[in-house]
Amino acid sequence: MSTPLRLGIAGLGTVGTGLVRIVQTNADLIERRAGRRIEIVAVSARSRTRNRGVDISGYDWEDDPVAMARRADVDLVVELMGGENGPAKALTEAAMQGGKDVVTANKALLAIHGQALAEAAEAAGVALRFEAAVAGGIPVVKALAEGLAGNRITRIKGVMNGTCNYILTRM
Ligand SMILES: NC(=O)c1ccc[n+]([C@@H]2O[C@H](COP(=O)([O-])OP(=O)(O)OC[C@H]3O[C@@H](n4cnc5c(N)ncnc54)[C@H](OP(=O)(O)O)[C@@H]3O)[C@@H](O)[C@H]2O)c1
Repeated sequence: MSTPLRLGIAGLGTVGTGLVRIVQTNADLIERRAGRRIEIVAVSARSRTRNRGVDISGYDWEDDPVAMARRADVDLVVELMGGENGPAKALTEAAMQGGKDVVTANKALLAIHGQALAEAAEAAGVALRFEAAVAGGIPVVKALAEGLAGNRITRIKGVMNGTCNYILTRM
C-alpha cells in the first residue's frame, strides 16, 4: 500500500474550493485510478473566517502560504492564489527549493516567470505542472508535451473566451 500524496493548497477561491470539493468527493475514485490516495493536509488564504462553502475544518490552517510550502508533511504544493509576484512566486520557489513538486493554475506567474521557474524546477529535480493555467480544464499542455511530442508544432490558434463559458454555464 503506497503512502498518500499530501497536498498543501494555497488559495481557496473559485479554483481552490473546487479542488477541495473534488478531492473530498472523489477521494476513493482517485485512489482507485491513481493507485495512491490524495489527502489535503494544510490550506492557506487571506481570510481564515470566510465561509467558502466547503468544509476545511479537517485541515491545518496557515496564515503564511510560504510557511505552508515549507511544511515537512506536505509533499505537493498547489498554488491557486494568482498574481505574478508576491506570495505566489515566493511560495512556488520555496516549495521547489524544499524538494516539493508544485502545481499552479497561475497564468500571470507563468507568463512572467515561467522560464525561470521551469529551470529552477529542473535544477531542484521537482515537477512544476500548470495544465490548469492553460485553457482551464482542457488538457492541452500534456497532450502537446507527450501525445504530440513527435510533431513539429509552430503555432496554435483558438478562441478562449471566458464570457462564453460563463454564459454556457448559466444556460
Ligand atoms: N477561475 C477560473 O476559472 C480559473 C481558471 C484557470 C486558472 N485560474 C487561475 O487560478 C488562480 C486562482 O483563481 P481563482 O479564480 O480561484 O481566484 P479567486 O477566486 O480570486 O481566489 C484567490 C484565492 O487566493 C487567496 N489569496 C489571494 N491573494 C493572497 C495572498 N496574498 N495571500 C494568501 N492568499 C491569497 C484568496 O484568499 P481569500 O479568499 O481569503 O481572499 C482566495 O482564496 C489564478 O491564478 C487564476 O488565474 C482561474
